[in-house]
Amino acid sequence: MIQKEKKLLMHVGPVNILDRVLYAGLKNNVGFTSQEFVEAFQFSLKKTRELFQADNTYQPFLIPGGGTSAMESVTSLLKEGEKVLVVTNGVFGDRWINIFRKYPVKVNVLSAEPGYYVEPETVEKEVKKDKYTLVTFTHVETSTGVRQPIKDSVKAVRDYVDLVVVDGVSSVGAEEVKAKDWRVDVYLTASQKALGVPPGLGILVLSERAMERLKDEKSIAGYYLDLRNWLPVMNSMENGKASYFSTPPVHTILMLSEALKIIIDEEGLESRIKRHEKVASAIRAGIEGMGLEIVAKKPEAYSNTVTGVVVKKVNAGNVLSEIVSEGVELAPGVHPKLQGKYFRIGHMGWVTENDAIVTIASIERVLNKLGEEIRLGEGIKATQLYLAK
Ligand SMILES: Cc1ncc(COP(=O)(O)O)c(C=O)c1O
Repeated sequence: MIQKEKKLLMHVGPVNILDRVLYAGLKNNVGFTSQEFVEAFQFSLKKTRELFQADNTYQPFLIPGGGTSAMESVTSLLKEGEKVLVVTNGVFGDRWINIFRKYPVKVNVLSAEPGYYVEPETVEKEVKKDKYTLVTFTHVETSTGVRQPIKDSVKAVRDYVDLVVVDGVSSVGAEEVKAKDWRVDVYLTASQKALGVPPGLGILVLSERAMERLKDEKSIAGYYLDLRNWLPVMNSMENGKASYFSTPPVHTILMLSEALKIIIDEEGLESRIKRHEKVASAIRAGIEGMGLEIVAKKPEAYSNTVTGVVVKKVNAGNVLSEIVSEGVELAPGVHPKLQGKYFRIGHMGWVTENDAIVTIASIERVLNKLGEEIRLGEGIKATQLYLAK
């Protein structure tokens, strides 16, 4: 019972949150026009540029919702009849298709089988063949843990399309992200993933080229997610003055501000990415050490944030319910083509080496108990050996 109470959340978001971050939002009397809130908003906007490695030519946005609201707000940049290309490696890449199909634009899709990514050369061939206004990529496909080689992918299309959009929901704060150097027009994320903040916010940066499109009043966007409505708020808040379009998630922004202080000013982005890389590699060493397979099919596709684990004999759903009683919560497999065959380990945010140890040890015990054929003890040994390197 106590083990359950002391749960370690190794999920794909929301994730375990530092007390310091939580306490920053535990405030009873903060109005959205208060100096305290305006300062937290202002600080968060400035730090958001650094987070995405963007400069002052980029406009940051903090909007209510999460990854999906940030994604849908990209419709602010499109006009009726324009053509978009969706590059998808799974469930969240596919979400772009569902969004764009609600709007009067033409959608074409390049997709990969689970465990793989669409090769940059394939995307390059497609954008050379046809005229696309916008192309979307998913940096880390959370449904499988597959990482797109994003730098090369953006490079392959950059000169052939007007706008390049990257969903960094499962990458920003844990993987290398260079919006400016890679010339990405829209890079977006959400508060509840590798930033280690509760849910509630979609976070984006837009290039000058993307911002030019906001000057055109004609777009297919609806009302709430039209970035034109949010821009005056961002400008005003960045200048230290309160402004309103629709009520912001005040407490989430207070927490984001604290998290960005830690991420950028204290831990440092580079160290944070290295920490994620180390924990992710230690977890994968454990999984392979106990004799299991990872969903991502080649090491270049491994991500710092999510690992999909294939089980051969047992039902993945049973692993999840059983491991909760061991004090660890993992994420279910959600790719429709791999239903029941895998589960996911989320390792992002404030994740540590000790979390890797606990996770692998618990997975071993549970799989052994359920009758999966594993090399009991070899997983935890491999994780230890990796961490001791
Ligand atoms: C890569 C990716 N994109 C988009 C989303 C959607 O984000 P949200 O659930 O915050 O709307 C998710 C959520 O897990 C995601 O992993």
